Amino acid sequence: MVLRVAVIGAGICGLSSIKCCLEEGLEPTCFEQSGDIGGLWRFEENSEEGRASIYKSVIINTSKEMMCFSDFPIPAEFPNFMHNSKIMEYFRMYTEHFDLLKYIRFKTSVVSVTKRPDFPTTGQWEVVTETEGNQESAVFDGVMVCTGHHTNAHLPLDSFPGIEKFKGRYFHSRDYKSPQEFSGKRAIVIGLGNSGVDLAVELSHTAEQVFLSTRRGAWILSRIAEAGYPMDTIYVTRYVQLLRHIVPLSLVNYYAEKKLNAKFNHEIYGLQPGHSQHPTFNDDLPNRIISGKVLIKPNIREFTETGAIFEDNTREGNIDVVVFATGYSFSFPFLADCVKVVENQISLYKYVFLSHLEKPTLAFIGLIQPLGAIMPLAELQGRWATRVFKGLNRLPSARDMVADIAQKREEMRYTIQADYIQYMDEVGCLVGVKPSLLSLLLDPKLAMEVFFGPCTPYQYRLRGPGKWDGARQAILTQRDRIITPLKTRVLDDYTKPTVLISYCS
Ligand SMILES: Cc1cc2nc3c(=O)[nH]c(=O)nc-3n(C[C@H](O)[C@H](O)[C@H](O)COP(=O)(O)OP(=O)(O)OC[C@H]3O[C@@H](n4cnc5c(N)ncnc54)[C@H](O)[C@@H]3O)c2cc1C
Ligand SMILES: *[C@@H]1O[C@H](CO)[C@@H](O)[C@H](O)[C@H]1NC(C)=O
Repeated sequence: MVLRVAVIGAGICGLSSIKCCLEEGLEPTCFEQSGDIGGLWRFEENSEEGRASIYKSVIINTSKEMMCFSDFPIPAEFPNFMHNSKIMEYFRMYTEHFDLLKYIRFKTSVVSVTKRPDFPTTGQWEVVTETEGNQESAVFDGVMVCTGHHTNAHLPLDSFPGIEKFKGRYFHSRDYKSPQEFSGKRAIVIGLGNSGVDLAVELSHTAEQVFLSTRRGAWILSRIAEAGYPMDTIYVTRYVQLLRHIVPLSLVNYYAEKKLNAKFNHEIYGLQPGHSQHPTFNDDLPNRIISGKVLIKPNIREFTETGAIFEDNTREGNIDVVVFATGYSFSFPFLADCVKVVENQISLYKYVFLSHLEKPTLAFIGLIQPLGAIMPLAELQGRWATRVFKGLNRLPSARDMVADIAQKREEMRYTIQADYIQYMDEVGCLVGVKPSLLSLLLDPKLAMEVFFGPCTPYQYRLRGPGKWDGARQAILTQRDRIITPLKTRVLDDYTKPTVLISYCS
């Protein structure tokens, strides 16, 4: 009997989950409340309620070789850091290549997912959907939740006394689309995450003045690293990973901070954070700060009618607009019966499975904040989950899962977040696809690139279930695909890209 799986959402996690079901011979039905694929990456001026939304200029912060699906490299000529329209182009290619569209029911939202009475033996779910006002119900053997975690804007107005007095405009970064209407204005942006910094930089090109307010500061990373290579292709490698584990953490931090401060001193620039602050990617911020277009301010103590008073007692008046780039929260209203989200956290074994269900037939995909791209990770989670659904992989006992969750939480207090390679290897191990460096020794050229080169998703297609014959070739040609889009002015005696020398290193 073929297992039927409900995939909720057709963003990137939903798309890869459909593909994973097909790979394991399961029968997926994907429900997507909007009329198209792509989730938050599909830019629209007015995106509908319930779908995360981005601004027009969003460029991804993970490079193409690191963010692609493991058996479908991004075309060589695509830029390394893609604009959201280009990302959509890639997702459409993926959807078409693996013929995923026919499994998706658009304009259909999932309103409830509940256990069937015989759940303890069958693990089946009753899924109620709604299409243009009509409700329907169906039974599924497995459910993959792919609804994203950037849906509900987090707008903590309670922490900002006086906001009700403020006469200007204020809104959450979710509702920001483009800079035109802010030309000549004085703006405050709150929050030093990726959105806050992106917006402050973008506004600062036309606004009269931008103030960027932060409580905790942040390390600002550049998308571009040594010799002009994408940052993640240099630092997300097994070699660096190994160094980080054998060198004491304090030394790693010392080196990293020294390197970041060599480019621009985070203390002088007012950005210095505590150690374990999630870094922000932006290449332009220091430039906008030193030219005075963006001024870094501390947290806002209170709003006045015309502006704000900051925690250092400075005031800024004549403020026209305030943008709250204060992040997001997530929830699963359709799963109210069996899932509780507490303080924007949910306890999941390896970030995928609940520990207390009688049968492991419910998987959460992409609900993790890695220091790396979410796409390959979601894909690997999907490969694991579908094998658990089928009974090919078993989960540990509830007690062991709870212990593992607790241990992870403890580790997270010391590191920034889930370490990308470590997590990929953990799940890869469960699926049986973690590259075996030992057997790679028979193929030294490949072994060298796997160990010293960027830890690209193809590494998890070299062996085991879902092995892809193109994986080896994809790894050996990954550097070419990084360089190709830059070769728009080819020099006659071109040998290697010595043109890009970074001054900072
Ligand atoms: C501004 C911004 C910038 C980002 N930049 C990056 C980046 O540079 N790099 C990176 O790796 N990540 C980035 N992210 C993170 C982003 O979350 C992931 O890249 C990824 O898009 C998440 O995909 P998803 O499929 O989980 O969720 P989404 O893309 O949010 O898709 C969820 C889908 O589920 C549908 N849905 C929701 N509820 C239901 C329901 N009840 N029934 C039916 N359908 C439903 C929605 O309509 C939507 O299509 C960014 C996020 C934001 C907000
Ligand atoms: C990229 O930006 C998104 C959205 O702001 C963020 O959630 C993610 O952690 C960032 N990725 C990295 C590698 O920092």
